[in-house]
Amino acid sequence: MADARPFHWEYQEPPVQREAFRVEGGRPLRGDVPISGSKNASLKLLAAAVLTGERCRFTNVPEIADVRVMVETLRDLGVVVDHPGPNTYEVAAGDVDWLFVPLEAAAKMRASFILLGPLLARFGRVIISNPGGDRIGRRPVNLHVEAMERLGAEIAYRNGYYFASAPGRLRAGDVTFPTVTVMGTENALLAATLADGHTRIHPAAQEPEVDDLISFLRKMGAEIVRTSPDTIEVEGRRRLRGADHRVIADRIEAGTFIVAAAVTGGEVTLREAPCTHLDAFLEVMDRVGVPVHRDGDDICVRGVPGGGEYRATDITTAPYPGLATDLQPPTAVLLGRAVGTSRIHETIFEDRLEWLEELARMGAQVDILDDHNATITGPRPLRGSEVEMSDLRAGASLIVAALAAEGRSVIHGAHHVRRGYENIERKFLDLDARIEHVSEG
Ligand code: EPZ
Repeated sequence: MADARPFHWEYQEPPVQREAFRVEGGRPLRGDVPISGSKNASLKLLAAAVLTGERCRFTNVPEIADVRVMVETLRDLGVVVDHPGPNTYEVAAGDVDWLFVPLEAAAKMRASFILLGPLLARFGRVIISNPGGDRIGRRPVNLHVEAMERLGAEIAYRNGYYFASAPGRLRAGDVTFPTVTVMGTENALLAATLADGHTRIHPAAQEPEVDDLISFLRKMGAEIVRTSPDTIEVEGRRRLRGADHRVIADRIEAGTFIVAAAVTGGEVTLREAPCTHLDAFLEVMDRVGVPVHRDGDDICVRGVPGGGEYRATDITTAPYPGLATDLQPPTAVLLGRAVGTSRIHETIFEDRLEWLEELARMGAQVDILDDHNATITGPRPLRGSEVEMSDLRAGASLIVAALAAEGRSVIHGAHHVRRGYENIERKFLDLDARIEHVSEG
């Protein structure tokens, strides 16, 4: 059994490669864009591979910074991770050297906390850093911790670290969440696959990425049934086996490109798009009047030049199958081009409207009413500006706004977008955009 690594070194903020995007806007996007594999599915799938000592193989994994952080974190634990070709990763967690996920990993990526459930379930203990909050809200992990305790784990919190142990084996039980949580559901699910007995998780998140994880875990031999849309039941197994899996397409990347086509008045076909995972978002596109049609696995968007015919509409973010909070920022860019006043009600995170101040610097008429509500009134022309990304989705949305704006924009903080969008400037260049990245020393 592997031992816990001592944790006495001083934490130092990792250096960030300062980089900006320079965009010459005002050109309609035209052409085809391939949609990459889902970030939020890939991170959990890679973590799930530690539930077995056998080799797991993943294809269609996006080449993004967050995946690299997860791979480095797994390697630091002693897990063998091979990268035999683009978008393919093989993970073999025969044994691990350390049961320790340091602050370095948590500070770079909050999703490293998804390792709590599988490491605890397979090895019986782990020390894992509290990931804390980030720029979109407080983002606590209390529900993950309570779920593990419900499954029989003992967890102490000291000096920013959770010390979790489950002597013997985790015990199945009822995990009841006071609110829907995506990663909380996934952590409980991962832990329950190796727990002793029958676990019921309710309310369970219904996001497509959770179902992708379930489909992979079943290939590993896990017994999991979604007995109602928001209930997952798991019969724990003593061991799981290795499996191969192709990651589903990224619905948030797809939504971002749909808005980019709409606001630039372009014509774009999204190849291999996750058509069935975008219902709530496509319903908003329909209300606004964006011409979108599905053609097999493709989505074709024909934007309205100038956007003058788009209609304002109110949006409310919600857990799946509602409108994804991750699609609120790109949707807001579109609403700024629509005629009339739209209200944005952000129900998931408390700091996810602040980025609208940057959009306002580009000319959008925005009124932030409180942490959860804002209005945006259009149509207002956007002008090239110098703005700063605050997080991944806001960052991608500022690029989209810059593509629609007249003139040149400089968007600082490109590392945020590198976390979750594969080859973003290559994809926009292939759609005829004028975009380049510039190093800022
Ligand atoms: C996932 O975050 C995604 N991240 C987020 O994607 C996404 O915005 C979010 O789900 C909502 O869809 C990954 O999958 C890696 P939650 P997650 O637990 O699971 C509260 C992106 O840009 N809560 O569903 O961490 C929480 O504060 C991102 O790709 C607690 O109170 O979100 C929030 O209000 C960022 N205690 C609500 O629940 C907890 O222990 C839902 O959050 C956990 C959550």
